[in-house]
Amino acid sequence: MTKLIHLSDLHFGAHDDKLVAAVETRIDDEEPDLVVISGDFTQRARTDQFEQACAFLTRVRDRGHDVLAVPGNHDIPLYDVLRRFLSPLTRYRKYIDDTLCPFHQVAGAGAGAAVLGVNTARSATFKDGKINHEQIAFIRETFESVDLAVPRVLVTHHPIFALPTGDGMGKPIDNQSDVLEMIGTLGVDLLLAGHNHRASHQDSADFVTKSTGALVIQAGTATSTRVRGEHQSFNIIELDGETVKVTLVGWKEVDFKNGDPAHFTRQDGRWVLLGEHGVEHVPNAPKEPAKPAA
Ligand SMILES: [Fe+2]
Ligand SMILES: [Fe+2]
Repeated sequence: MTKLIHLSDLHFGAHDDKLVAAVETRIDDEEPDLVVISGDFTQRARTDQFEQACAFLTRVRDRGHDVLAVPGNHDIPLYDVLRRFLSPLTRYRKYIDDTLCPFHQVAGAGAGAAVLGVNTARSATFKDGKINHEQIAFIRETFESVDLAVPRVLVTHHPIFALPTGDGMGKPIDNQSDVLEMIGTLGVDLLLAGHNHRASHQDSADFVTKSTGALVIQAGTATSTRVRGEHQSFNIIELDGETVKVTLVGWKEVDFKNGDPAHFTRQDGRWVLLGEHGVEHVPNAPKEPAKPAA
């Protein structure tokens, strides 16, 4: 079994210290194979905010945890226009990770996992994300070097699909059709993202007619005080052979508490949610007709 902890949208500068401490405690307790952080480390990409994010990462790494991170749109300066266009990710590269396309192969028990992150944040837009053709070629090259039996996990800040934002629907990623084609041909298994501060998990075929057969896992904000209709949360993702278990861990008054895990397995090229005892869950199944009164 391979265990990932998926955090997103930490937003240092608009964060809650007690949630940060609680996240660190849970990381220690869970002993994941990898901590994935899908962007928005800071609120406004200021140096003091990056220093706080860096201190968090240092504490996590010093306790022996591997971390894979990608930047988010909030990690590019917004109001400092010169820095935004001339050196947008200099601070991110200094304080978080010099690599903008990190790759980590989890050995773990079983097949492990191949986890690749790409940067979707751009200076030219305030909020929208993009994966360009150079990045698509790099993703292809990287995953094609991995044994087919190893689950492939792609991490971005922006979701590939249009998803609820709390006050409407977000935009799909720019260049979506090329990205979907790449995901389909490579057989990418899991797509991990954040940005909307809303947690969810479902098969990609639920979003687009053309099924790409990837399990789309969105993380909420783990530690930001700016929530959008739901409490802070993060995901625990366990890959075990043909099944993936996703546990949403949500903030409940004084601590993070586990929700009921969702078990998925692949059937006919898509991820199907299993109910208790491995029985397939049928969405919106018709209820049994009420018995006529005796
Ligand atoms: Fe965010
Ligand atoms: Fe974002």
